[in-house]
Amino acid sequence: MLFEENKSLKAFNTFRINAAARYFARFDNKESLTELLQNLPVEKLLILGGGSNMLFTDNFRGAVLKNECRGIAIVKEDPENFYVKVSAGENWHSFVQYAIQNDYAGIENLSLIPGNTGASPIQNIGAYGVEIKDVVHELEAYHLKEQSINIFSNNDCLFGYRDSVFKNKWASQFVILSVTFRLRKKPVFKTNYGVIEQELEKMGITELSIKAISDAIIRIRSSKLPDPLLIGNAGSFFKNPSIPKEQFDFLKVSFPEMPGYPNLENKVKVAAGWLIEQCGWKGYRKNDAGCYNKQALVLVNYGKATGKEIFNLSDEIIQSVQLKFNISLEREVNIF
Ligand code: EPU
Repeated sequence: MLFEENKSLKAFNTFRINAAARYFARFDNKESLTELLQNLPVEKLLILGGGSNMLFTDNFRGAVLKNECRGIAIVKEDPENFYVKVSAGENWHSFVQYAIQNDYAGIENLSLIPGNTGASPIQNIGAYGVEIKDVVHELEAYHLKEQSINIFSNNDCLFGYRDSVFKNKWASQFVILSVTFRLRKKPVFKTNYGVIEQELEKMGITELSIKAISDAIIRIRSSKLPDPLLIGNAGSFFKNPSIPKEQFDFLKVSFPEMPGYPNLENKVKVAAGWLIEQCGWKGYRKNDAGCYNKQALVLVNYGKATGKEIFNLSDEIIQSVQLKFNISLEREVNIF
């Protein structure tokens, strides 16, 4: 039997929502994926990685295929870089630790991000001044309809803030099988984001290393983001919005504390966590759905929340931010 039926997805999404998949199966290479695709009992399909950026608001009435492709290999080397090919089902943070142990630099700032490597390019994961687009060399993606492998270069991926071609033009058409990263032999340290330097100082670090940066980031993240093993969540629930500079200047008059970072094209990126906190949501809880008390951008499931409850809370938050600031928040998490 290729597919399990009516399978609970609770263990497969970091929000710990108890939704069920009508059909469920796992694949660990392109042959087993092809076999599943040729025997699909329904047309509706969802490819699942680490389940760390999704919210199920209902049971999934199609087939869920879990990507469990594993393996890490150096495929190329030049004087400056190692090219490391990582299969999509490898846990992201384990790969980051592997890179640090082997002195491959470039992803230390992306420590402790939940989820699997295959999903990392889809939304161009980013944190503490680094985005995956800075280190992706190329990736292998399997075209679901044609059942063939295509190679995407970094440019082909059209990376943007929490965005890529896999969220737009090619949404739901490809399965990422592996990503090849270009990692530096000599590190270029990036410590200018927010609190990294402060944290390194607190730790008593006098000589910088990729391990020290990773440790600092693990400490920062652990201090304000909930551990999905303890409290269900999917990281930032909303994107940080970019607003026109005139609107930012106008808002600054009434809200002088409002954090904003100049962006491209006369725009300013505003901290959504701050906007949400100003609307009074930080620490809010209704039944088991809540807005995290240390970082308002993160919605949480304290145990038995349904996906609908979390979604409704996100709707209320969007409305109140719209009302108070005239800014439209966009969800970062994928809703099913
Ligand atoms: N802030 C508040 N109240 C809050 C949360 C934040 O006032 O409740 C303010 C902070 O004081 C700071 C600003 O907002 O001035 C930015 O906060 P922070 O540095 O925590 O980062 P963020 O913008 O809230 C983004 C990413 C995170 C990433 C961090 C660090 C997005 C949507 N989120 O959050 O990514 O870890 O920067 O680089 O861009 C994720 O995508 O899941 C994620 C966790």
